[in-house]
Amino acid sequence: MFKNVIVRRPGKSMVNGIGPGTYGPVDHENALRQHDAYVEALKKTGVNVTYVESLEEYPDSCFVEDTAVLTRNCAIICNPGAPSRNGEQVSIHEAVKKFYDNIEEIKFPGTVDGGDVMMVGDHFYVGISARTNEEGARQFIDFLRKYDLDGTAVPLNEMLHLKTGLAYLENNNLLIAGEFIESPMFKDFNKVIIPDDEGYAANCIWMNDHVLVPMGYPKVKKSVEDMGYKVIEVDTSEYKKLDGGLSCLSLRF
Ligand code: GLY
Repeated sequence: MFKNVIVRRPGKSMVNGIGPGTYGPVDHENALRQHDAYVEALKKTGVNVTYVESLEEYPDSCFVEDTAVLTRNCAIICNPGAPSRNGEQVSIHEAVKKFYDNIEEIKFPGTVDGGDVMMVGDHFYVGISARTNEEGARQFIDFLRKYDLDGTAVPLNEMLHLKTGLAYLENNNLLIAGEFIESPMFKDFNKVIIPDDEGYAANCIWMNDHVLVPMGYPKVKKSVEDMGYKVIEVDTSEYKKLDGGLSCLSLRF
């Protein structure tokens, strides 16, 4: 069960965040409304919410997931792989100190974005992507082992982050999209295949028997409901413009 989340409201500079540029300009006011609704949805699942301050100097800093991975036994502060994002982790480190004694840090030449890390119980899958390099994954998995956890590196060829195409919903249920569908690494999960036309909705989050699903993806919503989860739909259309999804907007622990 998750007891806490950490979130950061986007600053006005978010309009200059990294994105594909294919979904139009970001509307900051609408993004704030969507962020508030996202936090209300999280609260419905029983968690306490900690806000860290908005950072205008980092346009993508609302995507706090990339800055840390908070496990049962330790916190690992990431070293974000996009130069314009590296530094976002400093204030997250400060916030995490209130919750953790065991805190480790990924250091250069290693880079890790938390969006490349998927927790499955005490095992963590770590994507090697344009943001997370092999050295970062090695440091990350070494830290896991130090704290009685373990990890497996997963090479990525197409997706931005590992959790762009995967969401673990507990009970061995895995939403899986695109390049991961045929991977032998995920063959033992109960795979729920995300259709290409709803690929964005592979990024859902399990929250204490609820699953947050992005608004506007009826096939994925039905698949998740059919598995017996209580679904909460959340509109993330402004964040999609920046390649961000539901998981990217919080740290859950
Ligand atoms: N815009 C989010 C990211 O690229 O990291």
